[in-house]
Amino acid sequence: VTLICEVNGSSTGWTFSWYTVVSGNGHYQLLSDSSRGAGGNYTVSSAALKHTGVYVCRAETDTPVIYTTFSNTQPLWVTGVSPPVSLIISPSRTQHFTSVSLSLSCKDQRNSDGWRVRRYTDSGQVEDCSSSLWSSQTRGSTCTNSYTSTADTGVYWCQSESGENYHPVNITVHSGVILESPVHPVTEGDTLTLRCLYQFTTPPNLRADFYKDGSLIQNQTTEMIISNVSKSHEGFYYCKHPERGESPKSWISVTGEISQISVLHTLSSVLTVCPYLLVTVVLIFKCYRMRGKIAD
Ligand SMILES: *[C@@H]1O[C@H](CO)[C@@H](O)[C@H](O)[C@H]1NC(C)=O
Ligand SMILES: *[C@@H]1O[C@H](CO)[C@@H](O)[C@H](O)[C@H]1NC(C)=O
Ligand SMILES: *[C@@H]1O[C@H](CO)[C@@H](O)[C@H](O)[C@H]1NC(C)=O
Repeated sequence: VTLICEVNGSSTGWTFSWYTVVSGNGHYQLLSDSSRGAGGNYTVSSAALKHTGVYVCRAETDTPVIYTTFSNTQPLWVTGVSPPVSLIISPSRTQHFTSVSLSLSCKDQRNSDGWRVRRYTDSGQVEDCSSSLWSSQTRGSTCTNSYTSTADTGVYWCQSESGENYHPVNITVHSGVILESPVHPVTEGDTLTLRCLYQFTTPPNLRADFYKDGSLIQNQTTEMIISNVSKSHEGFYYCKHPERGESPKSWISVTGEISQISVLHTLSSVLTVCPYLLVTVVLIFKCYRMRGKIAD
């Protein structure tokens, strides 16, 4: 991934530096390898989970000494299996109603509390839980928003004390109809269940039509169940009710089976075949020796 920084209308004489936005307005952290992007292009040659973040750049000249303002923010979301920390969303889905409570927390294997929830919304700022724009409260390591609004739509993730970002998740807050879909990628072979929920009825479950990438895939059901999920099921899903309206779209990603299993599988096949090969080789060898003896 290459991020490109330019000074509008001026191409020579600038040195560029690169930062990630830690939180709030103007809390930037200079990237330790910022000098790599001094020519204006900052390239992440092998994107890893830890490169998730919101980036800004700035330029300067030596003579005369001029510093530009910071650039606009540019988010970079890197997702993949087994991040070192998980963003826990409660209720556990990516779409939420307006005017309800929404809790977020970060959980790692050691149960450490060194993680904080951050978000990036249309405001273009990285906000922490106590931000006035977010109006949430931190209790322990959980950030709770007791009254959601559509302005809470954005990307949420976990940030370590040193400023590394992991597990970005798109969260959509919408009034009316929402799609209930899993927060985490679905593993190939698993079952995927989708429901359509309506804010103003109890129970909220709607009998609705389900769409994938714009085409109707199932009509008039209260839930859609896809068993034995494969990579082809990856896509944008939404649901629609003739009177109540339609939900926002959610991307559902499908990951392959954990590669360790296939490595073990290959290893066990090799080990199973080994004795047979060995016996065959020994027999062929003996056979030749016997022939040799007979010829003598
Ligand atoms: C660059 O400058 C031109 C001319 O002043 C202006 O029209 C354009 O909007 C500027 N672009 C940005 C990204 O600021
Ligand atoms: C969130 O959704 C937007 C629009 O679909 C997409 O460009 C972005 O990559 C998504 N971010 C994450 C973390 O999935
Ligand atoms: C559901 O879809 C099928 C085929 O696409 C159509 O024949 C049927 O009328 C639809 N049912 C309803 C209730 O819309």
